[in-house]
Amino acid sequence: MAVQGLLLEAFGKFEDTISLKTWDAPPLQPWEVMIQVEGSPVNPADLNIIEGKYGRLPNLPATLGNEGTGCVIQVGTGCSRVKLEDTVVVRPGAQGMWVNRTVVKETDCFVVPNDIPITQRAMLVINPITAFKMIEGVRSGGWVIQNAANSAVGRSVVQLAKAQGVRSINFVRRPELIEELKKDGADHVFLDDEAGFVAAKEVLRHEQPLLGLNAVGGESALRVANLLALGGKLVTYGAMGRVPLKIPNGLLIFKNLSFTGFWVTAWLTTAPVEEVQKVVSTISTMMLSGALTLSIQRTFHLNEFAQALVEAGKSGRRGKIVFVIGG
Ligand SMILES: NC(=O)c1ccc[n+]([C@@H]2O[C@H](COP(=O)([O-])OP(=O)(O)OC[C@H]3O[C@@H](n4cnc5c(N)ncnc54)[C@H](OP(=O)(O)O)[C@@H]3O)[C@@H](O)[C@H]2O)c1
Repeated sequence: MAVQGLLLEAFGKFEDTISLKTWDAPPLQPWEVMIQVEGSPVNPADLNIIEGKYGRLPNLPATLGNEGTGCVIQVGTGCSRVKLEDTVVVRPGAQGMWVNRTVVKETDCFVVPNDIPITQRAMLVINPITAFKMIEGVRSGGWVIQNAANSAVGRSVVQLAKAQGVRSINFVRRPELIEELKKDGADHVFLDDEAGFVAAKEVLRHEQPLLGLNAVGGESALRVANLLALGGKLVTYGAMGRVPLKIPNGLLIFKNLSFTGFWVTAWLTTAPVEEVQKVVSTISTMMLSGALTLSIQRTFHLNEFAQALVEAGKSGRRGKIVFVIGG
């Protein structure tokens, strides 16, 4: 069967390195399934991979698109968990999802309800699961403080925290986002600057926040760290500001803060399939009920990839760029 999709042939500017190509699908092995892909978003990691600036790079030529959703159209003879016509999401990194069809291991597929809109289930794995794992264990009534709160991870944190009774302090770069995030369930939203820091400090005067999430770095990360209580933890999971963390000695000595990192791909590749399926099912239920909704800026077809990637690289988006794929 023929596959059509975006192929990366060298790292660099996408204009010079990506093209829409057609090739033959590999023969299905007993432990594999074939998926008719329906949707896949453009995440910052996809853009970083195209540039050749990500923690783990694929061998070239490579298919692209770290996550996505589709319908199972062929099942290997040794598969038992996934059935024909199941709707699935795919473990990030298993296969590029900016294609119309793909063959993946059954163990890289997680079944989801097909009445979740394609654009939502296309984005169900990477950002919501990152949020889910990072706030896991915060007690109801506790706090999470985060920057880049308008990102898909940030919006997921806001909605998951609200559902778990965890209170959130959120920093954003643009004032128009303040009311929008509050509608999503954010308890407090401030601009990510010195005045925002002072306002957040006032809110937390009698509180003991122990978890900060950082996807920016530099001064922004320090503001989050400075709001944490004795023994708190700052988790860095992104570097949108492209500036390193510079940690003052005092935060280590007098506050005993821990600075750690999180990479969802590492969790997804080491966690047992049943455990990942459980988290996927929890997030699916939230998406179905409307308790978790991710914003979309615009959808594109694969042949519009140049415009899609330009849009995805812009600041000030309202939400994700998503490829809607059919046929
Ligand atoms: N470690 C992991 O496992 C993991 C998993 C998922 C995502 N991530 C990382 O998390 C980050 C967010 O990903 P996403 O998909 O949620 O993002 P996204 O939805 O594409 O949104 C990008 C966000 O970054 C903000 N931003 C862009 N440039 C910035 C800068 N120079 N300074 C501060 N903020 C900036 C944007 O702010 P505006 O809204 O104001 O434009 C927006 O909120 C990325 O770095 C991504 O690689 C890591």
